[in-house]
Amino acid sequence: MWWLELRVGMEHKVKEIREEAEKYAVNTIEELEAFRISFLGSKGKVKALFTDLKNVDQSQKREAGQLINGLREFVQEKFDAFKDRVENKSKTAKKLDLSRPGDQIEIGTRHPLSLVRSEIIEIFSRIGFTVSEGPEIEDDWHNFSALNFPAEHPARDMQDTFFIEKGKTPKDEIALRTHTSSVQVRMMENSQPPLRTISPGRVYRNEAISARAHCFFHQVEGLYIDKNVSFADLKQTLLYFAKEMFGENAQIRLRPSYFPFTEPSAEVDVSCTICNSKGCNVCKYTGWLEILGCGMVDPNVLEASNIDSKTFSGFAFGMGVERIAQLKYKVNDLRLYSENDVRFLRQFTSGM
Ligand code: DAH
Repeated sequence: MWWLELRVGMEHKVKEIREEAEKYAVNTIEELEAFRISFLGSKGKVKALFTDLKNVDQSQKREAGQLINGLREFVQEKFDAFKDRVENKSKTAKKLDLSRPGDQIEIGTRHPLSLVRSEIIEIFSRIGFTVSEGPEIEDDWHNFSALNFPAEHPARDMQDTFFIEKGKTPKDEIALRTHTSSVQVRMMENSQPPLRTISPGRVYRNEAISARAHCFFHQVEGLYIDKNVSFADLKQTLLYFAKEMFGENAQIRLRPSYFPFTEPSAEVDVSCTICNSKGCNVCKYTGWLEILGCGMVDPNVLEASNIDSKTFSGFAFGMGVERIAQLKYKVNDLRLYSENDVRFLRQFTSGM
């Protein structure tokens, strides 16, 4: 029964080819084509079986034909699946070109106000000042009362306050701090002299925003309390600061002024860095630029924080960081500092 053997032989072959196709792995377009030629091509394995089918006895042909058709479908499905995979792979490979040079990561620059603040800290830390900080949301006591601003006193109008909570009396009010002098009070409450500290921080005032004013800005407060601290110490400290900040030729002058928390009080000008004191539109042809307020800490302020004003004396000063930055970098519009325009921000380098 030769035809039966033929059929059994055919079954065997179909099984073999099927197993071979099952084990086959295709990863590239070339391998896919090799698979197609080997199994489905005109001289491929499936075609060869159809050729062999001619020799199968008529009575067995139908069954044998079905077997081969089944195999062809199986191999075709396998081919389609391989094709899908390979084509998708090449699509994503196109999207993800691993040979492309990477995007450059741009390094940012430090904000000019950070640079100036760091420089101020650096200068004062060289003569023994520590750095201290306090909260931006402050109570009346620390922002006003302990600093000798009497309740209802017009001196409070010097600074337009953003209130957070209105109290029954001014003493219960909570506000955004209007100056970093509030940190002085916190330092005096928490430690006994000698005290030598600077307090950098953000402050808020209810001002219309313009080139010359903003509703928030930055200050650095200074406080020095010990036995026998004199006005001469204050003056020399500020002269040292001006020379370190603006250069050896910088000069300062003090003009009498008024602050509730210092007595006597002064405003300090530095010789104009822009025109070397020759007179320009920034210094309004005076040769001088105002940079800070200062004075000897009022005994009332010391006593409010339980420091004995008979034993101790001290000086304090407060400067605007934007103001110093303006002089250092010749920026004449305050708004630029908070607009975050990278074309502006990229111009400053630390040099530190
Ligand atoms: N707090 C003042 C202001 O914001 C600045 C100031 C003046 C601070 C005199 C002081 C000082 O410590 O002694 O205008």
